[in-house]
Amino acid sequence: MPQGTLLYAQSGGVTAVINATAAAVMQAARTRRVRVLGAHDGILGALREDLIDTATLTPADLKALIHTPGGVFGSCRLKLKSLEEDREKYERLLGVLRAHDVRWFLYNGGNDSADTALKVSRLAEEFGYPLTCVGVPKTIDNDLAVTDCCPGFGSAAKYTAVSVRECALDVMAMAESSTKVFIYEAMGRHAGWLAAAAGLAGGGRNEAPHLILFPERVFDEADFLARVEATVRRVGHCVVVASEGIRDAQGRFVADAGGLKDAFGHVQLGGAASYLAARVQHALKLKTHWAMPDYLQRSARHIASRTDLEQAQAVGRAAVDCALNGQNGVMPVIVRDSDAPYRWHIDIAPLDRIANREKKLPGNFIRSDGYGITAAARRYLGPLIAGEAFPPYAADGLPTYVTPKLSAVARKLDRWEN
Ligand code: F6P
Repeated sequence: MPQGTLLYAQSGGVTAVINATAAAVMQAARTRRVRVLGAHDGILGALREDLIDTATLTPADLKALIHTPGGVFGSCRLKLKSLEEDREKYERLLGVLRAHDVRWFLYNGGNDSADTALKVSRLAEEFGYPLTCVGVPKTIDNDLAVTDCCPGFGSAAKYTAVSVRECALDVMAMAESSTKVFIYEAMGRHAGWLAAAAGLAGGGRNEAPHLILFPERVFDEADFLARVEATVRRVGHCVVVASEGIRDAQGRFVADAGGLKDAFGHVQLGGAASYLAARVQHALKLKTHWAMPDYLQRSARHIASRTDLEQAQAVGRAAVDCALNGQNGVMPVIVRDSDAPYRWHIDIAPLDRIANREKKLPGNFIRSDGYGITAAARRYLGPLIAGEAFPPYAADGLPTYVTPKLSAVARKLDRWEN
């Protein structure tokens, strides 16, 4: 039985399948007879010594977590600065790790979280404490470098493609006498992966979504309005998918929700669709509806992708292997072997190739007119939304999601106020 404790924490925006990763981590560690603690609210819990003893979670709890969205231990947005700037925090963190004999730390998040994991991985050398730190990938934005895709994305992408296809049928049915334009806002701060996934909803030029607005292309309002008008004339209605991250020629977010910034320094986005709808109604005098699914797309476990679920579990298991093998400063990543049939395997990549980088939609995934996806994008995206992984439903008609009772680990240190 390996000596020491494994600490697992979730960071950044949660997903429909991040709890499946958590469950896989706990299941894999249990088979290796390793004790697992969870940190409440990500790295914040580690700093506050707010830890959870996962031994009290039953096998049935772990099984249910596989189909439960949200983040079972809570997540956070908190960025650690450099060792010089945040020395006090690193020393505190080390104190907590030492007090609970934590030898392995798994940090499950996106690119900002990979940066935290990388910094923590360097503590081992800096302070001479035997710690192995492993990043575990997740983000619905699908913008992590190196990995072919990110757990969480496939399910959000499936929700997006399914919702746009369903809603397009609604719009088409009423367009003659009612709504002519529908605008759907997809998440993805700087990268248009989710907006691109909406493109899977339709095939030809006259099938919805008729126009996709990507953050990788400058938003040109006059050109956009002209295309909406032309589509309504040609098809009778127009379904638009706009990424929350679209910017004008000056680089300003169309959807800047008012200047609030999180601890990662990101402005809160949201509102591109409502802005565009107002412009369409005003300029074109066409009845327009819009939707901002916001967290609905991030949490939509009821329509999760089976591929995504399997990958979320695989990275959890691989992260435990990396940790116990002493592979410090790495992240398990997904490697695509082939598109059709879709084959993939897990590889291990150094965190310094992943942290703080953003993988944008490649140019060859965006149609030459800038408003749709290409065949290459379809080949990439298609397998990621393939397969269903429905949660079980109870007699009341709702999915049987769980919020297991978590038991706190007794504190050994003074409280940390910061
Ligand atoms: O997790 C990624 C993400 O969903 C982005 O697409 C979105 O812009 C952001 O999180 C929203 O974050 P928050 O919940 O912190 O406002």
